[in-house]
Amino acid sequence: MKFFIDSADVNEIRAANERGWVDGVTTNPTLVAKSGRSFEDVIKEICTITTGPVSAEVISLKADEMVKEGVALAKWADNVVVKIPMCEDGMIAVKKLTAEGIKTNVTLVFTPMQAILAAKAGATMVSPFVGRLDDIGNDGMAMVNDVVQIYRNYDFATEVLVASVRGPLHLQQAALIGADIATIPYKVMQQMTGHPLTTKGIDMFLADWNKAKGQ
Ligand code: G3P
Repeated sequence: MKFFIDSADVNEIRAANERGWVDGVTTNPTLVAKSGRSFEDVIKEICTITTGPVSAEVISLKADEMVKEGVALAKWADNVVVKIPMCEDGMIAVKKLTAEGIKTNVTLVFTPMQAILAAKAGATMVSPFVGRLDDIGNDGMAMVNDVVQIYRNYDFATEVLVASVRGPLHLQQAALIGADIATIPYKVMQQMTGHPLTTKGIDMFLADWNKAKGQ
């Protein structure tokens, strides 16, 4: 299973990468705005931190403009993946960008049917949003399970990138389902590391060691 970090904060990305947790990066306009930096600067810097795929999202809503933006984004670095929102124009753009050899990530996917359409258009990755579905009382992970199952039934090459991850349990469930990738906020990666019994165990071992040494 590949882990991407869902962030536009280069310090977080570097920290996660140092720990071996970064197979790629996803950003979105909200995360880039939060970084306070120019879109181009931040994406170009992220692309030097990892050789893995780095998703950069278009902001146009018309197919031709999305394609133009996507072609420009793909020139920023070899590992840029153009993130396109799920909509009819988006699917036209995905098909055109795919034909030009540019990788795409279809975002804002909330149903298995949207995921099938993204795969049919030739998307490299599809991003089902788990947390935002949970937020409105739906079962986000059940949707991911359906997407993975459907892609397997028909051998779709599109990778399932679980997005809108809110906690460690989402990761455990995504891994059990067999999703290809999860994109994870750094805070959640840190939550996944810890356990009270691990902390207690470390303290106990150190106390015993120091006692034996007469300290
Ligand atoms: O980057 C897309 C997605 O992971 C956003 O998550 O937490 O804003 O729903 P969230």
